[in-house]
Amino acid sequence: MRIALLACVVGAALIAAACGGGDNDSSQSQSASAPGGASAPNATPPLSLAAQVGAKMFFDKTLSGSGAISCATCHSPDFAYGPPNGLAVQLGGVDDNTPGVRAVPSLRYKEFTPAYADLADNPDGVTPPGPGGGFTWDGRVSTLADQAKIPLLSTFEMANSSPDAVVNAIKVGPYGALFKQAFGNNAFDDPANAFNLAVSALQKYQQEDPDFHPYTSKFDVLRHNRGNYLTAQEMHGLQLFNDENKGNCIACHLSGNAAGGSVAPFTDYSFEAVAVPRNMDIPANADATHFDMGLCQAAETGHTPANSAKFCGMFKTPTLRNVATRQTFFHNGVFHTLRDVVEFYNKRDTNPELFYSKASDGSVNIYDDLPAQYQPNIDMTVPVVHTRGAAPSMTEQDVDDLVAFLGTLTDGFQPPAK
Ligand code: HEC
Ligand code: HEC
Repeated sequence: MRIALLACVVGAALIAAACGGGDNDSSQSQSASAPGGASAPNATPPLSLAAQVGAKMFFDKTLSGSGAISCATCHSPDFAYGPPNGLAVQLGGVDDNTPGVRAVPSLRYKEFTPAYADLADNPDGVTPPGPGGGFTWDGRVSTLADQAKIPLLSTFEMANSSPDAVVNAIKVGPYGALFKQAFGNNAFDDPANAFNLAVSALQKYQQEDPDFHPYTSKFDVLRHNRGNYLTAQEMHGLQLFNDENKGNCIACHLSGNAAGGSVAPFTDYSFEAVAVPRNMDIPANADATHFDMGLCQAAETGHTPANSAKFCGMFKTPTLRNVATRQTFFHNGVFHTLRDVVEFYNKRDTNPELFYSKASDGSVNIYDDLPAQYQPNIDMTVPVVHTRGAAPSMTEQDVDDLVAFLGTLTDGFQPPAK
């Protein structure tokens, strides 16, 4: 989260070049050679053999215990590699009917995600170091390869019985020969090593295929100085997004400055407690004592609620690129329209009764998805106005305009022919 004003990103004409940004800031890139935003779309090199294996795996349903789902089932290419439906959590498992516990993130624009650190440098260049980086909502894995192991083996996702089962499915399947071509004739001999090669192939696919980082939104046309096709409403939405007295979204959803570069990731990879409402559509939440508290429960990064109480309730700030293609929002999928999300950001504290559950006496259970002792962790950057019953910082029209701006972050914009 940014704490100080950034002169070069405020204002309507958000042109990253004016701030001297480079496209590849290697200090925040886990792989400086990963495809960034700079290369022309038609200059794309062909996928390496390893990435070709990864592409096959990504769509291969035989890599699931049920035989019914692949990575693409939850991360649909038609929805920016996010979920293709409005379910809060997707179904998986050996019966293909076991609900997950979190909403599916988009897999686009992950190429500059740094590994998790409690004291990560913030790419905005002004905010003091804080928790940031890593994959999944709680940052618990550092590479796309290690990340792929989770769904392949999770009992509620692809539910393979073991790494060997995954390797065997590849070996006997139609691209077993391609796997050997990519990794050597002995590649299957040691199954543990073969599993590592397989997940490295998934990583390479996501890094190399430009469809995971196309940078073809209307906003990208603007930031590359190739013309401003934003409507007046969208331009006003951009102003609200940047205005620290209105939306102040830029405080975490970094849209571009010197250190963030012209990549404009729309995240600073930081962890924040936004206090989204509890979602009773997640079956695990039927247990009133169960709380998904994100970062402080990520044992892989050494956290427990006891040793990291200050991190409870925090989740990774996601990119907002392609967010308008989603039908379910936040780590628990509690909202289903972007307008509801922006309303929540605007009125969380002025009108909490609109969002949170009610106690038996009719009072509002504000911040109802985080135990009271952790509520001091909640971020007060948004909303801007915190007084119950006061006017929020944005009007209804402002909310509509901000939603319209978020639509300009969807890839595939074609400027009208001259
Ligand atoms: C059943 C649905 C499902 C399937 C199948 C699935 N995922 Fe996911 N994926 C998720 C969910 C849910 C998360 C968020 C998990 C969390 O935060 O704990 C996620 C997170 C991720 C992330 C982290 C993204 C980020 O923003 O940090 C990556 C990368 C990823 N998945 C890749 C894959 C790959 C590769 C496969 C196939 C091997 C796959 N997924 C299969 C549901 C799925
Ligand atoms: C204090 C940092 C911060 C600020 C300021 C902020 N956000 Fe977020 N945003 C987050 C975090 C963290 C999440 C994930 C929270 C969660 O799921 O619990 C998130 C999630 C979202 C999502 C859901 C995306 C998805 O893939 O599910 C949208 C949409 C969004 N923010 C839009 C906005 C807008 C619009 C503004 C300004 C009105 C804003 N944010 C201000 C940190 C912030």
